[in-house]
Amino acid sequence: MPGNSFEMSYKIAQIRLVSSHPEVYEPCDDSFALVDALLSDRNNLLELKPMLCMEVGCGSGYVITSLMLMLGEEANGAQFIATDINHHAIKVTQETMEAHGVYAELINTDIASGLENRLAGSVDLLVVNPPYVPTPEDEVGREGIASAWAGGENGRSVIDKILPVAEKLLSKRGWLYMVTLTANNPSQICRQMMKKGYASKIVVQRSTVEESLHIIKFWKDNDIEADTNDVITNSKAVPLGIVDSVQNRLAGSVDLLVVNPPYVPTPEDEVGREGIASAWAGGENGRSVIDKILPVAEKLLSKRGWLYMVTLTANNPSQICRQMMKKGYASKIVVQRSTVEESLHIIKFWKDNDIEADTNDVITNSKAVPLGIVDSVRSQIQRLSFWGSCDINTTTN
Ligand SMILES: C[S@@+](CC[C@H](N)C(=O)[O-])C[C@H]1O[C@@H](n2cnc3c(N)ncnc32)[C@H](O)[C@@H]1O
Repeated sequence: MPGNSFEMSYKIAQIRLVSSHPEVYEPCDDSFALVDALLSDRNNLLELKPMLCMEVGCGSGYVITSLMLMLGEEANGAQFIATDINHHAIKVTQETMEAHGVYAELINTDIASGLENRLAGSVDLLVVNPPYVPTPEDEVGREGIASAWAGGENGRSVIDKILPVAEKLLSKRGWLYMVTLTANNPSQICRQMMKKGYASKIVVQRSTVEESLHIIKFWKDNDIEADTNDVITNSKAVPLGIVDSVQNRLAGSVDLLVVNPPYVPTPEDEVGREGIASAWAGGENGRSVIDKILPVAEKLLSKRGWLYMVTLTANNPSQICRQMMKKGYASKIVVQRSTVEESLHIIKFWKDNDIEADTNDVITNSKAVPLGIVDSVRSQIQRLSFWGSCDINTTTN
């Protein structure tokens, strides 16, 4: 109810900074964005009825206190735990909670060290605003306030330690909310977690002058695991005919493939009909033709080949990306454009050897697409006279 959420925002805004310490992180844009993400998901959280809630890196206690107030009496019986590596933070959090009449078990430890056995598989809600700022590696984990932000290379050092711990602690129905920065490569974090069976979405994205914050929510999704053995579940047989004869000739040699397929959801019997309807009729979820094209694209693309494909939200582009990922393709949305009728995503796919390697060795950073590919595409594009003097923007990843 709108009335409720207003009251709730008001209550959270009322969290007072009753205690502070020069070496404890004061609530900032990232803390506010994390609480806003939790608040925007409050109804779902209430439905989840988390029995064990935990914060790693509680700092001043702003987030864990907000969470307890936000869930309120509806979380009766739930247990709250917060950790911080900085003992001053534990003291400040204690005082913040006392001033607001809430209680959590506070533990001064590195992430969840010493708690793994006790908490394994039982945390229903985990919230983390980690030290994510890219810094020299030797600044990570130092005594004092620097440990609140120093994140090492790409700001990933502490995040990459927290993620496997999170997997251990989360219950089967558990949710993780984590603050990340663009520099942390949030999409690579999502892919990494996906390989562990977690779906993800960005709940809040907020840009300040200094940084662009993403609050990502992760949850266990059994479909992701099921998909692993049955990758292209929607695809139907590629019809014999033109495609087959061309496939053999071009197999593994197409460096640039562009497709604007018939993607409009229609009754299945409208797909492939004679006439103009075949330009748009995409069958169920608009995926019938797309799902025939993708395996063909994989066969045709060279090792360094790129595929650009138009999709609609209704086609479930993130599922297409996951599907392609299992075939070793990285992806990104190059253009996203919404009209009154539809929201279009132009996705770029490219072979990423790291994705295959990652299967056994999850925590590695994906590397940039080699410059050679960019150059080769430029040269191919220049050969196409109709590009004329267009200004083409290519990026390396
Ligand atoms: C960016 S601050 C966030 C503080 C608070 N959660 C907030 O949002 O305002 C990061 C916190 O993580 C703590 N921290 C850093 N490394 C940690 C680790 N290895 N284990 C536990 N806490 C850690 C820091 O001391 C700091 O309090």
